[in-house]
Amino acid sequence: MTEQAVAVAVDLGPDRAAIDRALEAFCDRYCGGLPAPVGDAIRYSLMGEGKRLRGILFLRAYEAARGTADGSAMAGAIEIVHAYSLVHDDLPCMDDDDVRRGRPTVHRAFGVAAATAAGLAMVPLAALCAADAARELGLDHTETGEIVRELMIASGAGGMIGGQLLDLEGEGKPLALEELQRIHTAKTGALIAAAATIGGRAARTSSERRDALARYGASVGLAFQIADDVLDVTATTDQLGKTAGRDVALQKSTYPALLGIEGARSRADALVRDGCAALDQVGLLTPALDRIAHFTVQRTS
Ligand code: IPE
Ligand code: IPE
Ligand code: MG
Ligand code: MG
Ligand code: MG
Repeated sequence: MTEQAVAVAVDLGPDRAAIDRALEAFCDRYCGGLPAPVGDAIRYSLMGEGKRLRGILFLRAYEAARGTADGSAMAGAIEIVHAYSLVHDDLPCMDDDDVRRGRPTVHRAFGVAAATAAGLAMVPLAALCAADAARELGLDHTETGEIVRELMIASGAGGMIGGQLLDLEGEGKPLALEELQRIHTAKTGALIAAAATIGGRAARTSSERRDALARYGASVGLAFQIADDVLDVTATTDQLGKTAGRDVALQKSTYPALLGIEGARSRADALVRDGCAALDQVGLLTPALDRIAHFTVQRTS
């Protein structure tokens, strides 16, 4: 991919709108059958103003790997896992937050019991929606199973949940950079990497190209969490739509605390370069994937 091609303007707005529509369709199909307020809490969580980065990343990885069908339902399924992680992350027993996506957190709006149940219900909901979405993409049972498996592994003990537990355990302790990298890679990088590799899988791309997508996703995912740590100390609650300064209040180890703000930013920039280089090596660095990688560190919310 030439520099000129990478510089082409990419509009990700339509991707975001398509993911919002897929999430709304899931809510219409599945939330009605749940007892209120759990169904309402799920809808509230899913329809909040998220960036939809993981879903967009899936769509653009799928496209880069020459997938041609409408991937918005699979993108939505990935976003359900992410939204659930936010519902639980904000609970009083975790980061105890009052604001998310510019509104009261789910437990502030619906109560702790409903928010806890909503988060729990969103995991099988995501698996179900991913299985349905894989069929819509024309994938067979084996391919569908592999995708759902990959999504659940990324969300589980070796990925997001495991990282979240280590993150909580680490509060009030001075962690070394290596330990912090392990936590960030698991709690945030794993799902972002899965969004990229599932894009490759859904397009039935080669294992070499899937490996490159995994490297890109892991680098961009870690960069994304470093940028989140930086924004926690440099942005306002209004800009973020979530409470600024939470990491210091909770005595979390963060990249800016260990490397300074500029040190953290340059680490994140280097990861973005590494991630893009991994894709470039296998001819997968599209303008959209380049743009997404840079957005993770240049964003202001
Ligand atoms: C927030 O993720 C949680 C982290 C992993 C840092 P996002 O910043 O992607 O949140 P939304 O989806 O845009 O609200
Ligand atoms: C959250 O990290 C990672 C998740 C898996 C949800 P943070 O706790 O830093 O995310 P924010 O800052 O609350 O969005
Ligand atoms: Mg947290
Ligand atoms: Mg948090
Ligand atoms: Mg944070």
